[in-house]
Amino acid sequence: MCGITGYVGARPGVRTVIDMLRRLEYRGYDSAGVAVAGLAAGSDRGDLEIVKAAGKLAVLEGQLQDHWEMQGTAIAHTRWATHGGPTTPNAHPHYSCDKRIALIHNGIIENFQELKEQLGAAGHAFTSDTDTEVMVHLVEEAYKATGCMETAVRKALCQVRGAYSIAVVSTHEPDTLYAAKTASPLILGLGNDENFLASDIPALMRYTKRVLVLEDGDFAVLNRQGVRVSTRDGEPVMREPFLVTWDEQTAERGGYPHFMLKEIHEQPRALADTLRGRIREDGRVVLPELEAFTAARLAAFTRISIVACGTAYHAGVVAKKFFESVLRRPAEVTVASEFRYGDPLVGPDTLCVVVSQSGETADTLAALREARRLGATIVSMVNVVGSSIARESDAVIYTQAGPEICVASTKAYVTQVMALYLLGLHLAASEQRLSADELRAYAQGLTALPDAVEAVVAQALSVEDLAARLADKSTFFYLGRGYDYAVSLEAALKLKEISYLHAEAYAAGEMKHGPLALVEKGVVVVCFATQPALFEKMLSNLREVSARDGLVVAVVPEGERRADAAADYVLRIPAVLPCFAPIVAVVPMQLLAYLVARARGCEIDQPRNLAKSVTVE
Ligand code: G6P
Repeated sequence: MCGITGYVGARPGVRTVIDMLRRLEYRGYDSAGVAVAGLAAGSDRGDLEIVKAAGKLAVLEGQLQDHWEMQGTAIAHTRWATHGGPTTPNAHPHYSCDKRIALIHNGIIENFQELKEQLGAAGHAFTSDTDTEVMVHLVEEAYKATGCMETAVRKALCQVRGAYSIAVVSTHEPDTLYAAKTASPLILGLGNDENFLASDIPALMRYTKRVLVLEDGDFAVLNRQGVRVSTRDGEPVMREPFLVTWDEQTAERGGYPHFMLKEIHEQPRALADTLRGRIREDGRVVLPELEAFTAARLAAFTRISIVACGTAYHAGVVAKKFFESVLRRPAEVTVASEFRYGDPLVGPDTLCVVVSQSGETADTLAALREARRLGATIVSMVNVVGSSIARESDAVIYTQAGPEICVASTKAYVTQVMALYLLGLHLAASEQRLSADELRAYAQGLTALPDAVEAVVAQALSVEDLAARLADKSTFFYLGRGYDYAVSLEAALKLKEISYLHAEAYAAGEMKHGPLALVEKGVVVVCFATQPALFEKMLSNLREVSARDGLVVAVVPEGERRADAAADYVLRIPAVLPCFAPIVAVVPMQLLAYLVARARGCEIDQPRNLAKSVTVE
């Protein structure tokens, strides 16, 4: 996730914004850059300089020796690539054509392509593949017309659609910083005769503990004397500053005790970002990444083969069901380590869907190469831009989870499932398998998911009692049918990974073929019953467990009461389209795993024996 810092005041600007940026490194990034407007020490240069470099901050710092003591208003940025690879030209800040304005951005500009064409026609030259660069040219164009930076930035913002936090510096007003925010975070730090801005509080803490959190739609003007916040249209708004009392480590985790909890809370945003710009008004899915594939080519794939490892494999299990239901043809899902040595039935008629958060998992990469060797076409779902799997695919659909730091995956999983739904719907629409009404219903169903997840996250406390009750248990089963079985797999994995408890997922109908023999007092059985068509069947399974003294936890949609009598504990989740329930039903299970692990005093973010990115076989 990109990091933004900015400074106006008497300290050396470059040194200050880079120091602040270092405190955002935990967000993950692939390139960095800085812009300073003002004077080099002892010189009267009034220019605007940008220095940027692919790679870690140290690479950039190596190029900044002459700039270290420079005074002047400065902005800096660490980039987590979304549009365009992690290269130096794509790093921020971006210049206007006349090199008098520089801009940094965190977010995604959905309509950048059309804006780029318009600006190109008006004579603007672009030096990067980013969506961001259009914004600085829009500001330049508006400045030419108005001669006022504030109006120019406001005008530019009115033309873009999407998510952004931005900061702008210019030689037109070298003592002023302009900033704005919609979906991406932006915080102002208030000092004495100096002011700061940053994507997150840790960047500010060394300099000031008085901060002000901008809200969506806010526009801010910062100079040494103070900050002024208004709406994008200029209506003044009041944002109360507050004093930060966290230590720096807590601040890095946004005040959460662990990255896992922070990432669980980031899921509504991550889902919204993955959906952003993907759904047209008529309900059709927009996947420009697949533009090169004609409808005839897509329809010619008689086989769909999904490959992945770990949590990503579980996202694939959901996708297999969804693909089969909307495409009415078989889809397979295989763990990558089995696929690569499994003599897979794959050929030129196969669409191989590769799912990976890191894009570097050794088994998944090897499976991709095997599929390619056999002639398959590869479409991957990856979270890290420019990763090996992304580079070796025919097309990539990026999940927009942002960097995931906890080893146990949460937000990457839900965004993978979301991206896979989008792919399924795109294929189904291109094969004309869904009516306009069906497409619209699916689209509405997807759009409802971020809020549904938000509602579950907001009730985290309701899982706390249950977690306390389960923390001393040693055997857990997770049961479900259909989509609920897919969720069971991921729910059991979460508990195993971070609490070191034995948890197994089963297709509920299989219980009577073996595992039921293990059920006795003290054994915990989580029963997912989110699928109306299978509810009665699940109710029977739940009663079978209850009759053998197992401790039953039922996960049901809001308003559903039929499980109450047989379950020891009922978790209710918002009712969504049944095929999309996995994204919502997994969330209380992530929270439960987290709280059980915490009650047991486990490590959580870095569980024993496990790694975030498994780049060896
Ligand atoms: C490791 C991680 C898991 C992840 C799996 C696949 O086991 O701990 O969280 O699901 O690798 O990783 P990938 O990056 O390919 O999604």
